[in-house]
Amino acid sequence: MRHLGLMFAAAATAAALAGCGKSPTSPAANQAQTNSSQPSTAPSAEPTDQEKAALVATLPAPYNTGDLANGEAKFALCKSCHTLTPDGADMTGPNLSGIFGRKAAGKPGYNYSDALKAQSFTWDPQHLDTWLTDPKAMVPNTKMTFVGFKDPKDRIDVIAYLKAETSPHP
Ligand code: HEC
Repeated sequence: MRHLGLMFAAAATAAALAGCGKSPTSPAANQAQTNSSQPSTAPSAEPTDQEKAALVATLPAPYNTGDLANGEAKFALCKSCHTLTPDGADMTGPNLSGIFGRKAAGKPGYNYSDALKAQSFTWDPQHLDTWLTDPKAMVPNTKMTFVGFKDPKDRIDVIAYLKAETSPHP
């Protein structure tokens, strides 16, 4: 009898603990981030989700339908070689801030291949799409060693992500 009683007590305690579960993320923690006191005149370092959506909306179809979450996930394949923000460093590949509307091989101070330097196009969604399908097919002898995205949706999503992350914003 005594043992049985103890077992019940233990079970009840376990159930109570399980019931506690994970405490929900406090809304106050989220608020603290958005409330950071920056001078209102300085541009914020990171565009808001609304600004990102507005930037993507300026793209021609189908790029304006790009899924930023998948674009960000797929950009993991580019991250070891490219930074996106204006203060980002050149790494194996050039910093991509302002890539839309920039001439191919147009980042000052980065040591491009002669093959890319010989190109005269300007980066837009269509050129990026061809590039990200197969860089070496588009520009033989480029030094970008990325095999390319076979799924067109991945290219659309990464191009939308690039638009959101590399464009000047208010
Ligand atoms: C292993 C390193 C590496 C990876 C991974 C990589 N790149 Fe590159 N990327 C480069 C290099 C190197 C260049 C310069 C190519 C040249 O000069 O021929 C470049 C050039 C570019 C350019 C042209 C830049 C300009 O100023 O003309 C774009 C756009 C670009 N990469 C986008 C991407 C994206 C998007 C991904 C991911 C899907 C990616 N790259 C993955 C190394 C990489």
